[in-house]
Amino acid sequence: MIFDKQGQLIQGDNNAVLRHLAENDVKVACAYLDPPYNNHDRLHHYRDSLDDDVWLDEITACAELVRDLLEDHGSLWISIDDGMMHYLKVRLDGVFGRQNFVTTIVWEHRTSRENRAVFSNNHEYVLVYARDLKQFKKYRNTLTPTPEWLARFKNPDCDPKGPWQSVSATAQGGHATQSQYYGLECPDGRILHPPKGRCWTLTESRMKAAISEGRIYFGKNGGGVPRIKKYLSEAKGGLTPHTLWKADEVRTTADAKKHILSVSQDMAVFETPKPEELIARIINIATKPGDIVLDAYLGSGTTAAVAHKLDRRYIGIEIGDHIATHCVERLRSVCSGEQGGVSKLTNWRGGGEFAFTRHA
Ligand SMILES: C[S@@+](CC[C@H](N)C(=O)[O-])C[C@H]1O[C@@H](n2cnc3c(N)ncnc32)[C@H](O)[C@@H]1O
Repeated sequence: MIFDKQGQLIQGDNNAVLRHLAENDVKVACAYLDPPYNNHDRLHHYRDSLDDDVWLDEITACAELVRDLLEDHGSLWISIDDGMMHYLKVRLDGVFGRQNFVTTIVWEHRTSRENRAVFSNNHEYVLVYARDLKQFKKYRNTLTPTPEWLARFKNPDCDPKGPWQSVSATAQGGHATQSQYYGLECPDGRILHPPKGRCWTLTESRMKAAISEGRIYFGKNGGGVPRIKKYLSEAKGGLTPHTLWKADEVRTTADAKKHILSVSQDMAVFETPKPEELIARIINIATKPGDIVLDAYLGSGTTAAVAHKLDRRYIGIEIGDHIATHCVERLRSVCSGEQGGVSKLTNWRGGGEFAFTRHA
C-alpha cells in the first residue's frame, strides 16, 4: 500500500479493507474502534440494530483483523456502552488473551441528567487491549501535568528543594516487615507509633535519614503527624494515566456535536461523534509522532482529524457515504487550519495532506 500522504480515508466495509491492509503489511501503533453500540437507536447514518450474537461476531472478527495489524507495542481502544460492554469484554479477552487486557476507562460522556430514564446514564467505557502488554507498558506515554496537578505543590516551609506535596507516612500493615513497626522519635521529642493495623512506610533508619534531610513534615508548628514530602523537582516524567476520564478533561458527546456543527452545518445530523479531546488523550498515550493510527469505524472523522493535528499518520475506514460529506470535508477544513476541538491545545496552524479512496 502506498502511504504517500499523512492520512488515508478509505470508503468500504472494514472487514475487506482490514484484510487488504494486512496483505500490504501495514502495521499500526494504535487502533481506535467506535462501532455502532447495537442499542437499537434510530440514527441517520448507520444501522444500530442487529441480533446481539451477529453484532458480537462482527466486532470480534474486526478485532481479530485489527490485532494482527498492531505493532508489538500496539494497542486497541474500543468505545462501548453498558448494553454490550460485558459481552464484548469476554469476546475481546478471547481475541487478545486476558493477559493483554490493559484496563477499562470510564468516560463521563454526558453531564446533564436524563430525567426520562430509570437511571440517567452519564458514562460510557473504553476497553483497552495490548498486542503484548509488556511491550505496550514500555512504549506508552504518560500525560502532561495539568495546571491543577502542578498547583498541588506548595512550599509553606520555604524548603530549599522547592515546592512539594505531602503523602501519608503510614501504610496498611498487611505486607509490612518487622522493621516498619517502631516508635518514631519526632523533633519535638514525642514518640509516635503507627495507628492500629498500619505500619510506617519507611524503616526506622530511612525515616531518621529523611527527618534529618527535612523530607518529613510535622505540620505548621511541628506538633502534627508526620507526612512525607514529595518534591515537584523529583517527580519523574508526566502523570500516569488514570481510568476515570471526566467531562471537564475530555469533553462530552454534546461538546463534540457542537464542534462538528461549527465545522459545517451539514454535519449537524451526525448523532454520535466523539470529542476530539477524548481521542487526543488516547493517541497521546498510545503513540508517538509519525506512528500510524487506525480507525475502522470512522463516523464523522474525529480520529482522522485529531491524528492529523497531532502529526500522526492515520487510516480511517468508513462504510457510509458520509465519509465524503463529513470526513473528507472535515479533513479539508483541518488542513486549512480549522480552530475547533484540540486545535488550540495542539497549536494547530493547518497544513498536511490526505488521500480519499474507495475500496472496490
Ligand atoms: C458510532 S459511529 C463512529 C463515530 C466516530 N467515532 C466519530 O467520532 O464520529 C460508527 C460508524 O461506523 C460505521 N460502520 C458500521 N459498520 C461498518 C463497517 N462494517 N465498516 C466500516 N464502517 C462501518 C457507521 O457507518 C458509523 O459511521
